[in-house]
Amino acid sequence: MTKILVTGGCGYIGSHTVIELLKNDYEVRIIDNLENSKIETIDKIKEISGKEVEFVQGDLRNEDDLKKAIIGIDGFIHFAAYKSIINSMKDPLGYFQNNVIGTYNLLKVMSKHGINKIVFSSSAAVYGNPIHIPIEESDIVNPLTPYGRNKYCMELLLLDAMNIGINHVALRYFNAAGAHSSGKLGENSDAMGNLIPRVFKASKGEYHLMVRGDKYETRDGTGIRDYVHVCDLAEGHVKALRWLFENSGKSDVFNLCSGSGTTVMEIVNGVERVTGRKVDYEIVDSDPSEAVVVTGSYEKAKRELGWEPGRKIDTILEDANRWYEGNK
Ligand SMILES: NC(=O)c1ccc[n+]([C@@H]2O[C@H](COP(=O)([O-])OP(=O)(O)OC[C@H]3O[C@@H](n4cnc5c(N)ncnc54)[C@H](O)[C@@H]3O)[C@@H](O)[C@H]2O)c1
Repeated sequence: MTKILVTGGCGYIGSHTVIELLKNDYEVRIIDNLENSKIETIDKIKEISGKEVEFVQGDLRNEDDLKKAIIGIDGFIHFAAYKSIINSMKDPLGYFQNNVIGTYNLLKVMSKHGINKIVFSSSAAVYGNPIHIPIEESDIVNPLTPYGRNKYCMELLLLDAMNIGINHVALRYFNAAGAHSSGKLGENSDAMGNLIPRVFKASKGEYHLMVRGDKYETRDGTGIRDYVHVCDLAEGHVKALRWLFENSGKSDVFNLCSGSGTTVMEIVNGVERVTGRKVDYEIVDSDPSEAVVVTGSYEKAKRELGWEPGRKIDTILEDANRWYEGNK
């Protein structure tokens, strides 16, 4: 059986991907420092999958932790990173150390142990503001924040590691959203980086929601973003891993996205519908530096990996609601 080390496997996207790996008969070991996740996630994974998963509490910034975790491993899925764009501006050095140096440590240990396959969490943040819509993988990369530049640095490091025989798939995801349909796994409810968790908080009166601009040339005047269900992302990782094992010596990059966009007001109205609660919000001035529409194309992932996002925005919001209601 193929054994995969999942870094950051107790986190939001990692935990859903572990379920999908177990469903597809991979053996899984997780390494996570639990800085942004909980140990209880391991029990939830076991409960949902009905299978065992190994866990090592460790940090990518510590090579000894990695050396312990890597024994008997055939390939990697690498999620562990800091992910807040705002925090990356406040603490660029800490972000570089965790995200880029963490990945460098991983590649160093992989190289020493002769492990040559890694699926990596990149981000649509590498594109910056799009020059055309939907964004394709061949479009110009122009990250605008330390977080986006971290992700691009990590992609470049992976490209360089091809010279020493390490192959990768970099997955550039757009906004991960939704939760496991069981209601047992989902995003840390304090994760306020994306719009959807903030709208759910606003629906409970726990957050003052500001909608930046309602006069754009869109369906309802508000900005459009691309939301992809976390379980679709999980399926994408397993397909990417299969591709890596079937295409010896090759590496590539793929967008994982919904291919269509949802406006801010469509999210607000959708959250009102699934929660049955009113969402209060304030319209404030738009930010001229922000793109009005950001959506991606998943045609390449469909063609090469056989991946398509199966879940629509309604399912995303219904699943997220089930998770938030169960975790008040
Ligand atoms: N959530 C999104 O919308 C999104 C979009 C694009 C890319 N990504 C990327 O996907 C990956 C996973 O995102 P997520 O939303 O699941 O984040 P998350 O914070 O929920 O999960 C990351 C996990 O990694 C762990 N971790 C962080 N640094 C570590 C270290 N040095 N050593 C060991 N463990 C460490 C955390 O404790 C956490 O469990 C990240 O790399 C993120 O940048 C996320």
